[in-house]
Amino acid sequence: MRKSGSIISKAFKETMKFSKPGVNEAHLYAKVDFEARLGGAEFLAYPPVVAGGNRANTLHYISNNQAIDDGEMVLMDAGCEYHGYASDVTRTWPVNGQFSEAQAELYGAVLSVQKDCIEQCTAGSTLDQVYHFMLLGLGRSLQNLGILSSSLNDVDLNRVSKMFCPHHVGHYLGMDTHDTVRVSRSNQLQHGMVITIEPGIYIPAAEDSVPTKYRGIGIRIEDNILITDKGPEVLSQECPKEIDVIESIMKR
Ligand code: GLY
Ligand code: MN
Ligand code: MN
Repeated sequence: MRKSGSIISKAFKETMKFSKPGVNEAHLYAKVDFEARLGGAEFLAYPPVVAGGNRANTLHYISNNQAIDDGEMVLMDAGCEYHGYASDVTRTWPVNGQFSEAQAELYGAVLSVQKDCIEQCTAGSTLDQVYHFMLLGLGRSLQNLGILSSSLNDVDLNRVSKMFCPHHVGHYLGMDTHDTVRVSRSNQLQHGMVITIEPGIYIPAAEDSVPTKYRGIGIRIEDNILITDKGPEVLSQECPKEIDVIESIMKR
């Protein structure tokens, strides 16, 4: 699992460097596949999502065949299989290598919630608990950005956040991407388990309840987490996710 996470992380890094305005989603798909195989993976673990601009708001977008315009972000969800073990990583980055102010605000909100959620991944907690923690964190961030009313209480925030993140915080990961689907997310996490943590904020272009500058942006950040007795170990830690790191590697 560590090797699978490491291979796909390096493939993402090369794919970020390869991005430029006008690149086709298909080329980024080919690049991540190529780099994962070069790194030793047998194949990609599932059809990846490579979505430019507003297409990132279609959760299971796999057409992966459109040009990505200058000023847009690209959301890539890709994993590989290494000796039967799957990784499942998502990153979102500006295709031109430079976050706009609005993109950085939304991205910063998702990143901060994602890091807080990872800290919750210790033995004894459950994916469902981390999910509710995520909804509250996203809700508070959306309030800070002026997207949600500051008068909403925690119960309402939990409900309304689901409109902006209509999927769970994560799932078990192993020999399948969605591993052991019959194991409930209310089971306690144990040492040795691997899960994904993948919060997102999705704002379709037509969402006119949200300030214009945030419309048409979809962001997800997904890492693979091993539960250990020393706390969470991020198996995809080599995959850049800080704004300054992404901008700096894309300059090269
Ligand atoms: N790649 C599928 C998922 O993130 O769950
Ligand atoms: Mn994924
Ligand atoms: Mn996943």
